[in-house]
Amino acid sequence: MKKILAALLFSLLPLAAFAQDEGVPLQHTNINLSNTASLQRGAKFFVNYCMGCHSARYVRYNRVGKDLGLTDVQLESYLMPAGGKVSDTMVSAMPQADAKKWFGIPPPDLSLEADSRGTDWIYTYLKSFYLDPKSTTGVNNVVFPHTAMPQVLWELQGTQKAIFTIVRNPDGSAYEVFNRFEPVTPGKLTPEQFDRADRDITNFLAYMSDPIALKSRDLGLRVIGFLIIFFVFAYLLKREIWKKIH
Ligand code: HEC
Repeated sequence: MKKILAALLFSLLPLAAFAQDEGVPLQHTNINLSNTASLQRGAKFFVNYCMGCHSARYVRYNRVGKDLGLTDVQLESYLMPAGGKVSDTMVSAMPQADAKKWFGIPPPDLSLEADSRGTDWIYTYLKSFYLDPKSTTGVNNVVFPHTAMPQVLWELQGTQKAIFTIVRNPDGSAYEVFNRFEPVTPGKLTPEQFDRADRDITNFLAYMSDPIALKSRDLGLRVIGFLIIFFVFAYLLKREIWKKIH
C-alpha cells in the first residue's frame, strides 16, 4: 500500500512543478469590502472604463446605491447613463454582436468575475498589460497571454514593456520566463495611485459577486434543508406502507 502511495505521489510531482511554472505569481489585492469610499470610486471607474464593453447584468443601479450609500439623484448624476431608470441592471451599451466582431470574443459579463477568477487574479491582470507590436491590440498580458482585451487603463497607468529571461533546457531548446516590467511612458497616476485605482476596481467587482454568491449559498442551504425534511417524510411513509403489507 505504502509503495503504491509513494508511486502515486511521485507521478504527481511533475504536475506540481508544472503548475508552479505556469503563469506569473499573482499580487495580493488587499481589498476591503467595508471600505465604502473605495467601493464608490471602484463603481465610478467601472462605469467609466469597463462598461463600454462589459456588463454586470445581475446588478441593479439602485442595489448599488443602497449598498454604497448613494441616493437616487447621486446615482443618476454619478453612475448612470442619461435617461436610465435606477431599477435598470448595469448593461453595457455595446451590442454583443458588434463586440464579437471587434474582439473575436464578446467581453464576458463581470457580475460574478471575482468569484470565478479570484480578486488577486483580476488585480494583477489589470496591471499586467505590456506593449507587444505583434498583437492586434498593441498589447499583451503576462497573466492572461494573448487576451483580446485592450489596455483600457493605459491613460492612468502609462505603458510598460515586459522583460523576459531566456531559460535553456538541457536539450538546447529554450523558453521565456517573465522577469519584470519596465515603464515606457508615464500615466496620469503615479504607480501607487494606480495600484489604489486597481484595488478600488477589484473591490467593486468583489462586492458585485458577493451578494449574489451569498444568495446562492442561501438557496443551496434551503435546498439541502428541504431534501432532509423530504427524506424523513419519505422514510416514515415507507415504514407506514410496509407495516400494512407485513
Ligand atoms: C474595449 C473593450 C473592453 C473594455 C473597455 C474592458 N474590457 Fe475587459 N475584456 C474585453 C474583452 C474582449 C475580454 C475577453 C478577453 C479574452 O477572453 O481574450 C475581456 C476580458 C476581461 C476579463 C477576463 C475575463 C475572463 O475571466 O476571461 C476581466 C477580468 C476584465 N475584462 C475586466 C475588465 C475591467 C475591470 C475593465 C475596466 C477597467 C475592462 N475589462 C474593460 C474587453 C474590454
